[in-house]
Amino acid sequence: MSDLKAIEVDCRFLDALSDAVVILDENLSILYVSSNAERILGISKNELLLKNCRDIFGKSFSQNIRSGAIVSYRNGNIKRRIKINYISKIDNFFIAILSPGPTYEQEDLFLGMVGVSKSMKQIFELIKVVANSSSPVLITGETGTGKEMVAEAIHNLSGRTGQIVKVNCSAFPETLLESELFGYVRGAFTGADRNKPGKFEMANNGTLFLDEIGDLPINLQPKILRAVERGEIEKLGDNKTTYVNTRVICATNKNIEKEVQEGKFRSDLYFRISVFRIHLPPLRERKEDIIPLSEYILEKLSQKYGLGQKYLTKTAIELILSWDFPGNIRELENLLERAYVMSKGETINEDVIAEHKFLLSKTYERNTGNSISEKDRILEAIRKTNSVKEAAEILGISRITLWRKMKKYGIDFRRLAKSSMY
Ligand SMILES: Nc1ncnc2c1ncn2[C@@H]1O[C@H](COP(=O)(O)OP(=O)(O)O)[C@@H](O)[C@H]1O
Ligand SMILES: [Mg+2]
Repeated sequence: MSDLKAIEVDCRFLDALSDAVVILDENLSILYVSSNAERILGISKNELLLKNCRDIFGKSFSQNIRSGAIVSYRNGNIKRRIKINYISKIDNFFIAILSPGPTYEQEDLFLGMVGVSKSMKQIFELIKVVANSSSPVLITGETGTGKEMVAEAIHNLSGRTGQIVKVNCSAFPETLLESELFGYVRGAFTGADRNKPGKFEMANNGTLFLDEIGDLPINLQPKILRAVERGEIEKLGDNKTTYVNTRVICATNKNIEKEVQEGKFRSDLYFRISVFRIHLPPLRERKEDIIPLSEYILEKLSQKYGLGQKYLTKTAIELILSWDFPGNIRELENLLERAYVMSKGETINEDVIAEHKFLLSKTYERNTGNSISEKDRILEAIRKTNSVKEAAEILGISRITLWRKMKKYGIDFRRLAKSSMY
């Protein structure tokens, strides 16, 4: 032990580095870790010291490991990667410099989209197939799951020479939507002092993206069917037919089959627009995408703000992974942007995430009837206050009750309080 202590004292200056420095003996047991290792590996110093690297990182961490290698390992239910920036054997010791590795690789990126999960990988494949055709596509999924992004990807891959034009069907009253989509000729109505092309025409040889198609007024549906089916449009006030070669992609966050059953959406139009069907699962059903997405978003934020790279702490990762994200990727983007801007150092502000969950859980509960578990609520309160007394006050229960509940859920106060200090 005295040797270890000596290393500890001599190496204190290494704590100032942003990478982690690790010293191993020749059997790969950890003799020393600089304080950054806790953050970069997501494992506390006490859990690391004297452990063997193979036990922590698996068999891929061997005596032959080279500088530049990326090592994947699991830490609880979190999958992590670290990059071995440098490793060298000096006498009977290994000295290694580690930095956080990417949680996604080049192959997990597709036209600006991140997808690690099996369901997203399948969607990437589907996009490639669908892009080769000019048949209509219906994209479904909750708000913020990436429907518009998928429509853009299909258009960009399709090689169609025209542009992609977007219309939100719920943003216009019926008559305005009609003239928006089909255009009008001069004199069609009071104030129509010139010809105006509609979006179907503007998207000729390109793609028309009809967002919120579930809100399409029933009276307009026959006209849309004709346009989608035969490329025939009639401008308002015109007595002749115009022909367009427009590919139509629709999106909705509604259960459109239900709309059909209830007679709000014509079944002939439904069948016509859903030749291809792409469903984007909500983020909570593809949790393995959340951290890679977060990293990707943080990377983009550092380019946008130029405030340097900021990392997620272990606590931040846990807070994010235990949230359902009812607003999906859009919500994650907004949350991370706020947290990024509010962070002073190299790590993302955890309080912003805890606060967000706390505020949203109330609205979310009201809207969905789902409730955040009691355990999450307790974890949040403790992280926020770092004090059992104050956490009990926030939760509106006595200190004794809180201790009892913490015991029940296996919450270790001292470890929590420590981890929130990273
Ligand atoms: N797979 C993804 N990778 C990265 N960013 C994504 C992904 N899917 C969606 N986004 C981003 O999330 C936000 C919401 O996506 P959007 O396509 O507008 O969702 P929707 O149309 O379903 O509401 C956008 O800012 C988009 O760039
Ligand atoms: Mg949208």
